[in-house]
Amino acid sequence: MNIGIIGTGYVGLVSGVCLSAIGHTVICVDNDKEKVKKLKNGIATIYEPGLQELMTKQIKKKKLLFSDSIKEAAKKSQVIFIAVGTPSKKNGDADLTYVENVARQIAESMDSYKLIVEKSTVPAETGKRIEHTIKLNLPKQARNRSVPFDVASNPEFLREGSAIADFMNPDRVVIGVESKKAEELLKEIYKPLKTKIIVTNMTSAEIIKHASNSFLATKISFANALSQICDRVGADILKVTEGMGYDQRIGSSFLNAGIGFGGSCFPKDVDAFIRLSEKSGYDFHLLKAVRQTNEEQKAAFVRLIEDKLWIVKGKTIGVLGLAFKPNTDDMRNAPSVDIITRLQAEGAKIKAYDPQAMEQAKKVFKDVTFCADAYGVAKSSDCVVVLTEWDEFRKIDFKKLHKVMRQPMIFDGRNLYKNDNLVELGFEYYGIGRGEKS
Ligand code: UGA
Repeated sequence: MNIGIIGTGYVGLVSGVCLSAIGHTVICVDNDKEKVKKLKNGIATIYEPGLQELMTKQIKKKKLLFSDSIKEAAKKSQVIFIAVGTPSKKNGDADLTYVENVARQIAESMDSYKLIVEKSTVPAETGKRIEHTIKLNLPKQARNRSVPFDVASNPEFLREGSAIADFMNPDRVVIGVESKKAEELLKEIYKPLKTKIIVTNMTSAEIIKHASNSFLATKISFANALSQICDRVGADILKVTEGMGYDQRIGSSFLNAGIGFGGSCFPKDVDAFIRLSEKSGYDFHLLKAVRQTNEEQKAAFVRLIEDKLWIVKGKTIGVLGLAFKPNTDDMRNAPSVDIITRLQAEGAKIKAYDPQAMEQAKKVFKDVTFCADAYGVAKSSDCVVVLTEWDEFRKIDFKKLHKVMRQPMIFDGRNLYKNDNLVELGFEYYGIGRGEKS
């Protein structure tokens, strides 16, 4: 099938490359001409494991094209996915300006049946608004002929860092449709994946996306709240969540306590879902507590460091990991930003290393010394703080690390060193909720 994807961010680019890999001819569009130039030259504009290779392959096969013209994509494609950004406004609402603009431009280019699919995460009823915008903006000659079109919702559940695998082996595909034709087209698109397809109406599909992210965020905040109790009563969060996770009704994933969730999705989607609920007349207390718990978790970690270091002013703190999670260079809403900024405000000097996110991080932080590896970070540092659980940090030579540090102190914000005997190696070790801080 001929497919257009508008927006080549994380969602758009990964979806475009993968849809082409499962047999479709895809044209990806972005209004950033520089970006399109790079993509046309075969350069992936984001870091995502496996993406560059797959993209190169599909370009060679001529199944993957790039353009800066929505008009071109709309002409060439029967199905057009909208995958542009929906950033948060100051009040937590999703800013849908880009979605509206794209819908208008698609409408202006329509000359035959099109299925327009929202892939960006949007509040409930955005699909209906897109439909209305398209109707209002059809070209005059098309308006008279009433060009047929459908709007559908097809939320994505891709995790950064494993997005290609998530796309190719999804737990489910959700399609929110209002017509049989839209249902058939979307089923046809995803047929090669041989996966469970949940068919619903457009608004339910939109809610499924917000509800899924909010539920996962709730699970994390629950584990983080538990970690606080574990520390106070002398229990070990790792054992507690292991004991809970074997219950199939609970499950063990997304129960890892840490320094709070970040990224471009959970914080934004939780905010947007709270706002949507408010507007619909329901006060989503539960989600407000999830958001608050997440903020408190970062603050509690900073307090722990401040307490154990005793004097923060003038101390050198070595930070391992800056990205909001491993296997990505994404710094959006990374807990590292809050934590480092707070420590700097207390007068700490920060050295940092991240395997992928340093370029992005340089745009975010002031007065941070970036190092080439973990040992560079540890050298002459008064403590090492782990903020992202990169695999590389699991393989650290702790004897070497111990030798170069000024003080052998480790704050493990991701419980990465679960069973390593860091205490025996001479470190003072603090994890999250390990029952050792009281
Ligand atoms: C999330 C969802 O998992 C995807 O299904 C969804 O498609 C995506 O948002 C989106 O809406 O686009 P992502 O933001 O890439 O994906 O990252 P996650 O792996 O879900 O992690 C989110 C945050 O939660 C990270 O900061 C991570 O460190 C944190 N986390 C995750 C925990 O603190 N504990 C856990 O047990 C799991």
